Amino acid sequence: MKRYLLDLANISQKTLSSIEKSNLDDTEFFVSPIQYKLSQNLTNLPIRFAPMPTFPVSYREEDILKKTAEAIGAHLVSSKIPNAFTEEKMLQSLAEKDPVPFCNLAKEYSNLRTEIESNLLKVLSHGRFIGGDEIHLLEQKAQEYCNVPYAIACSSGTDALLLLLMALGIQKGDVVITTPFTFIATAETIALVGAKPLFVDIDETSYNISPQKLKEALRLAAAKNHPKIEEGEKVKAIIAVDLYGQPADYEEIQQAIKEYESSTGKKIALIEDAAQAFGAQYKGKRAGSLAPYAATSFFPAKPLGTYGDAGMVFTTDEQVAKQVRQLLNHGQSKRYVHSKIGLNARMDTMQAAILLAKFEPYCETYLKNRKQIANEYKKQLERISDFVLPEIKEGNDSAWAQFTIRARNVKQRNHITEELQKRGIPTAIHYPKPLHLQECFAYLGYQKGDLPVAEKVADHVFSLPMDSVKTQEEIAYIAQNLIEIVKTKSI
Ligand SMILES: Cc1ncc(COP(=O)(O)O)c(C=O)c1O
Repeated sequence: MKRYLLDLANISQKTLSSIEKSNLDDTEFFVSPIQYKLSQNLTNLPIRFAPMPTFPVSYREEDILKKTAEAIGAHLVSSKIPNAFTEEKMLQSLAEKDPVPFCNLAKEYSNLRTEIESNLLKVLSHGRFIGGDEIHLLEQKAQEYCNVPYAIACSSGTDALLLLLMALGIQKGDVVITTPFTFIATAETIALVGAKPLFVDIDETSYNISPQKLKEALRLAAAKNHPKIEEGEKVKAIIAVDLYGQPADYEEIQQAIKEYESSTGKKIALIEDAAQAFGAQYKGKRAGSLAPYAATSFFPAKPLGTYGDAGMVFTTDEQVAKQVRQLLNHGQSKRYVHSKIGLNARMDTMQAAILLAKFEPYCETYLKNRKQIANEYKKQLERISDFVLPEIKEGNDSAWAQFTIRARNVKQRNHITEELQKRGIPTAIHYPKPLHLQECFAYLGYQKGDLPVAEKVADHVFSLPMDSVKTQEEIAYIAQNLIEIVKTKSI
């Protein structure tokens, strides 16, 4: 996002007319309130007043303009003030095409600036930076939106998973089944509580854990015949991940658990890792409510993201909800009374204030925007047959955390991503190495070839720029470049 503060006393009419004619999606123009008289006949221009910073009374107009520009991170444009951006330089910079950002958080912020800043100022004034009313309000909103009895704000998606595993009493000697094709936090937290992650391969269409392979793994576990489960170890939980925003197949997973429970008489807890899926739906139910225990993340680049780390635990289980609340605050039952070893895993009030400002716009507009952007990508890319495009299963509604496609092979994937980068189009790979092959899990003894679908998919996938504010033009530009690259060189 480009940002300019215009010194209206020293800017030509010609420059102002160029601004009026431009249709700039990624640029913001400001004027200082001290020049409000000069701004009175500029109502046609997309210009806003900048907030006034505090400054000493000795300041001259020039100093005030410089300080205002600095406070809002803008270039000061003036033909008189030394070291300011010249009008020519601004016009030249406006004419240059910026690279497409992978995730344009600045633009999203600029759309919601007033609400976000006003919420943050309220927190600065009341001063309850930990445990402010905003936390409770956010929990209430999320609980109603997801239709779950308990929603508990915490410090990150990783901590939400860790808190759940701790509250469920998962520990050494326990086995937790999960997918190898996810962000490290899903399995890292299992290892952190001392339990063993057991990886089950993914479904080739949704990239989520395969219910069929899960059933096989649980049958072997029930028969005490699973090669990765040692004598005395017990399967205690399953963490299913809603990858890229698409919910896993919960009915089938529940069915697999039911079969295991009825043949062994032992319980398995199902945890939904909805870090990428806040707002998604599975058969009419929201992510966060698809398993008795769920975790989400509000990391900045997540579909609903804040400006720091934050997460949330959801559950239908009153006891677990109580435990989570206690564990996230040092295991404290009353002030300075600690009946459990806990964590400092509270969400801070600033993050809750930002999320409150973004909550309704996200649920009402941005979530729909993401779907539209994904549909636009699909429409553009369906014209060629080179890629496997994302497929959303019937009954699912994705939150479109990522728009991830598959190339023919690793060589083609790497060629495409390098060429796109040269054209100012960034991409990302979610995820280049499945977790069973990561060095930190070498002690589990997995070999290349053990989970072939996850390994193949990890070699072929790449994600295209995605956020809630991408324009149709940006999508067309990305798709056009992508098509050009594959047509120019076949690999
Ligand atoms: C699937 C998954 N689980 C867990 C997490 C962890 O969330 P956080 O970054 O908020 O700790 C992430 C974040 O990237 C994720 O994608």
